[in-house]
Amino acid sequence: MGGIIAALIVYYGGLQVLQGKSTPGTFFSFMAALLLLYEPVKRLSGLNHAIQEGLASAERIYEILDTKPQIQDAPGAFELPPISRAIEFRNVRFAYNAEPVLRGINLEVKAGEIVALVGVSGAGKTTLVNLIPRFYEVSQGGVHIDGHDIREVRVSSLRSQIGMVTQQTILFNDTVRHNIAYGDHDKTDDQIIAAAQAAYAHDFIMEMAQGYDTVIGESGVRLSGGERQRLSIARAILKDAPILILDEATSSLDTESELFVQKALANLMQGRTTLVIAHRLSTVRHADRIVVLSGGGIVEEGRHEELLARGGEYTKLYELQFKVEEAANGAIQTNDRPAPAGEAAS
Ligand SMILES: Nc1ncnc2c1ncn2[C@@H]1O[C@H](COP(=O)(O)OP(=O)(O)OP(=O)(O)O)[C@@H](O)[C@H]1O
Ligand SMILES: [Mg+2]
Repeated sequence: MGGIIAALIVYYGGLQVLQGKSTPGTFFSFMAALLLLYEPVKRLSGLNHAIQEGLASAERIYEILDTKPQIQDAPGAFELPPISRAIEFRNVRFAYNAEPVLRGINLEVKAGEIVALVGVSGAGKTTLVNLIPRFYEVSQGGVHIDGHDIREVRVSSLRSQIGMVTQQTILFNDTVRHNIAYGDHDKTDDQIIAAAQAAYAHDFIMEMAQGYDTVIGESGVRLSGGERQRLSIARAILKDAPILILDEATSSLDTESELFVQKALANLMQGRTTLVIAHRLSTVRHADRIVVLSGGGIVEEGRHEELLARGGEYTKLYELQFKVEEAANGAIQTNDRPAPAGEAAS
């Protein structure tokens, strides 16, 4: 089309010049103007392409921005005052789908108390603690803080009181500094570094090329599991919230770093209301109270020694773990042990 139109213009313009209706000068300036017009017109058509692309992207972005959170402030929601008495689960039932995960949980965690949750994998420990920041709504019953049903308070005021190290670390494709500060612009660099030091993370951060300004990749893919966990712990330490929830917080650390981080966490737990989940029972034996979850309910509660003396579910878990460790140690030793003299002779 373009070629045919150009040919027609040249033919018509040439004819006009030949017939003396126009001068060669006019014809050539017209041609030059036409050539100059070509690029901008081409760009105009390209513009439409860019606009369409932009519109499609904007639609997808707004879809996310406009998503209404399922958990919202109730009308008349009020600020939750700082916790002073207790977190209470009152006959809490919860189901993700049809099958209930928690069936009638009654639990009181007093302010300043350290409560450990134990139970087999899938018992509902993570589910139970996720109900406190209201990540999910209870199906029946209620969670109360100092007597206020958490559905009646402002979600932001509830969550601002909770520091959490989740079982799956949540990190962003951003710098180490921003991942620790987690959107809190009021925290100074000194505070961030102090939190990282307490979480035993400062040294590995300093070893990275850009230190605290290193970008760690989508969900922190450029870090090891233990390093990710230490960043999450640093974040919780920095938040300095009165309620602390630790879900398998040190499960990916080696024994030495775990020892250090456990110490840091023990310091952090002082004077805070803490719920701690750990599979390794040695890490929870010093809790004020151990709560054993099984089959969607609480089956035992008490201190480590009491529960062991009772010989119930906790004892079973404990002995099983002890046996697994023994077996693992045994397996290593059998491989290392030199063959007995008799066998060697035969
Ligand atoms: N988002 C979800 N949607 C549907 N079912 C879920 C969801 N999260 C957990 N579940 C189910 O709920 C039950 C309890 O899971 P939960 O994560 O609370 O267990 P857990 O005690 O924390 O286990 P673990 O020790 O392995 O972390 C499991 O049977 C699990 O399959
Ligand atoms: Mg869990």
